[in-house]
Amino acid sequence: MRPKRELRVAIAGWGRAGSHLHAGSLRALPGARLVAVCDPDADARARAAGEIGAERVYADARRLLDDPAIDVLALCQPVPGRAGLACAALAAGKHVLLEKPLAIDAGESDRLVAAEAAATAAGVKAMLGMNMRWHPHALQARRRILAGEIGAPELLASTITTRHDDVPPWRRTRATGGGVLNDMAIHHVDLWRWLTGSEVVEVSACARSREWEDDSAAISARLSDGALATAVVGERTVNDNALAVFGRDGAIALSFYRFDGFTLRRGGVPGDRTDRMSTALHRLAQIVGLPATRRHRGLWLSSYRAQWRHFIDCIGADRAPGSSFADGARAGAVIRAAIESARRGAGVAVGA
Ligand SMILES: NC(=O)c1ccc[n+]([C@@H]2O[C@H](COP(=O)([O-])OP(=O)(O)OC[C@H]3O[C@@H](n4cnc5c(N)ncnc54)[C@H](O)[C@@H]3O)[C@@H](O)[C@H]2O)c1
Repeated sequence: MRPKRELRVAIAGWGRAGSHLHAGSLRALPGARLVAVCDPDADARARAAGEIGAERVYADARRLLDDPAIDVLALCQPVPGRAGLACAALAAGKHVLLEKPLAIDAGESDRLVAAEAAATAAGVKAMLGMNMRWHPHALQARRRILAGEIGAPELLASTITTRHDDVPPWRRTRATGGGVLNDMAIHHVDLWRWLTGSEVVEVSACARSREWEDDSAAISARLSDGALATAVVGERTVNDNALAVFGRDGAIALSFYRFDGFTLRRGGVPGDRTDRMSTALHRLAQIVGLPATRRHRGLWLSSYRAQWRHFIDCIGADRAPGSSFADGARAGAVIRAAIESARRGAGVAVGA
């Protein structure tokens, strides 16, 4: 449900996430309008002024908290200092969309979850930016898994890779939210929980730090219902972003950058006649939806726009957003266990 009046949004952090993913999603989105930006970097502010005019582009995020003409704050700067701002914004009655990861430090994560609970009681909404939950393939996978189409998930396999040659300093160290475990694996750990309804209880990981901390990693994990999951994650290779979920009765394969990247196979063998037929049907259905996703800058970017649409609807209808700070805290605990496992060279129980 759309709010009665257009929501006025401010973005803190005019980097890749703020200026491209979030501002791009808000452009021409009914129900919300970008009205202010904050970034300590003068070049970033000059770029933002080109988009929204110079009057409401600030260097200091406190200006956003004090501004009564701002309803929603999107926090898109790197992790350090972000939690304090999120808590202050919620306490000031502003709805907050906080980019992942929730926090690096467990104490900060607890503080954010407590701030979310207090805000919820006061009718103020907090949401964590786990855009992959709003990817059309992920939504379809969840619907079909919940409908029992593949049976209970037994095995999950994730790949999330990218090639970064020019990496900002915050991405180079774990403590500031960098490394592929903090920054990338967290998306798929969140999907494992969200698709299966189970918690990750134990994790083993290996990580390599050739150019910066944790620039490649491999994880294996046990879920509370007994399912097993694995992920390879890296930022020194070509791009991929894929997840396969196997049950007794079928398998779902998702390739998140492909418009036709959803396939569901019920039994049989990959490439057999039934598989070829059902893959062709899925591709056909996805081609029909292609023009809509092209309008929203492609399938991958449409997930950020759908995430915003969801948040705006939740604010309008006074509903809990579908990706909470508490979800971020659970995924964060898994990542901390993975980092500890890579350090020790042994499996680690999550939350231990
Ligand atoms: N959900 C996703 O798919 C996705 C994609 C990209 C980034 N992110 C997340 O967004 C965050 C930022 O990533 P990025 O790639 O945009 O980083 P970036 O380095 O491209 O940009 C960060 C920007 O924040 C600014 N900044 C620094 N401190 C600030 C402060 N105190 N207040 C306001 N602005 C400040 C910097 O000057 C810079 O312009 C990270 O947490 C990252 O994990 C999420």
